[in-house]
Amino acid sequence: MKVSGRVRVPGDKSLSHRALMLGALAESPSRVRGLLDSDDVRSTARVLATLGTRIEWGDGEARVHGRGRRGLQPPAADLDCGNSGTTARLMAGVVAGHPFRARFVGDDSLSRRPMLRVKQPLEAMGASVELERGDGLPMIVRGADLRPVVWDTAIASAQTKSAILLAGLVAGVRAEVHEPAPSRDHTERLLGAMGARVRTNRCTVALEPVTQLAPLDIAIPGDPSSAAFLVALAVLADDGELELVDVGLNERRIGFMHVIRRMGAAVAWEVEREVGGEPVGTIHASPSSLHGTTIEGAEVPAMIDELVVLACLAARAAGTTTVRGARELRVKESDRIAAVVRNLRAVGARAEETADGFVVYGARAPLKGSVRSSGDHRMAMAFGVLAALPGNAIDIDDRSCVAVSYPRFWEDLAGIAP
Ligand code: S3P
Repeated sequence: MKVSGRVRVPGDKSLSHRALMLGALAESPSRVRGLLDSDDVRSTARVLATLGTRIEWGDGEARVHGRGRRGLQPPAADLDCGNSGTTARLMAGVVAGHPFRARFVGDDSLSRRPMLRVKQPLEAMGASVELERGDGLPMIVRGADLRPVVWDTAIASAQTKSAILLAGLVAGVRAEVHEPAPSRDHTERLLGAMGARVRTNRCTVALEPVTQLAPLDIAIPGDPSSAAFLVALAVLADDGELELVDVGLNERRIGFMHVIRRMGAAVAWEVEREVGGEPVGTIHASPSSLHGTTIEGAEVPAMIDELVVLACLAARAAGTTTVRGARELRVKESDRIAAVVRNLRAVGARAEETADGFVVYGARAPLKGSVRSSGDHRMAMAFGVLAALPGNAIDIDDRSCVAVSYPRFWEDLAGIAP
């Protein structure tokens, strides 16, 4: 099969959420081009609107009418975060610094995801966070005049780190976070681009008290997590070359590219420019013979969202691939360790679960069977890559859940492999 073409994947999801939130807290209107139009980003826009922010959004460009650092309004309704963990956790930090109460709700999957990780630091800062069912949503956040904080997180989570930074930002107090491994750093980069004083090194970030935030004027680059699925198909093809342009190449997001290169993939990327403090460039990928590898905990944060598609690539690689130290996968949009192993087995591949990862035994035999996405966008897309390969006969129960992060995924996939 030939996979070729030049594609610009949709805007980065993490950056799109943050551009809307930080734009809402800026002193004057922000302009955001290339905003991802997906269900998750719509959830953030809806929550900000419920808190009084006016967002004009059309044709890939949004104008966010910033209300100032502590200028959001008390909500007249629950904050519906849909399927989006980033919306719930980051906005919990934003609300914690405001003098009002808000109740966060979400869909069944989000309602089961852990929120204690934001409750603990936000309460240490002086807010009150009530989890109606012990953990997960619904969650009631009562904001307050917050205290400065120095917080050690047990898990590397950009969402937890960002919730603390955003609470400190809104409250105008110092916030310092230490994490066990470096998670994605988009919040701190954007804050820096908006004039805040942020000091970072590998596992530490410190935000100095902010008085006001300058508005943003940025173009969001393509999402490297969305790019990973197309790269995977190009690598598994037997002819052609794929070029992905204008894609974000932040080192804390491209662990997948480094790992598949180690597995023998013909992938290359070059940074061409910086946009809003983020490196942006082009990725090239072509057919390759892959072999198995071992991925340990330190490599996990930079590829946390790509481990499902990595498992699917591993099923086509020579030898065994082992992932360890990725327990966080159990609390994503689905239990991704259980779901990816169950689905690989359902199509005839050999795979095993471990407590904090999985083992996949690569083989060449055609894969046939039915996959359950569990409503998880990345599960549907990863198996969509295997399903697109000639000889395989894979049926995916719910293909529409890709709307969470990559609404035109199926069209783009068909476009590169006609
Ligand atoms: C995200 C952080 C990661 C990632 C998620 C998006 C973000 O979650 O899996 O898709 O935008 O900050 P964790 O912070 O829970 O690791």
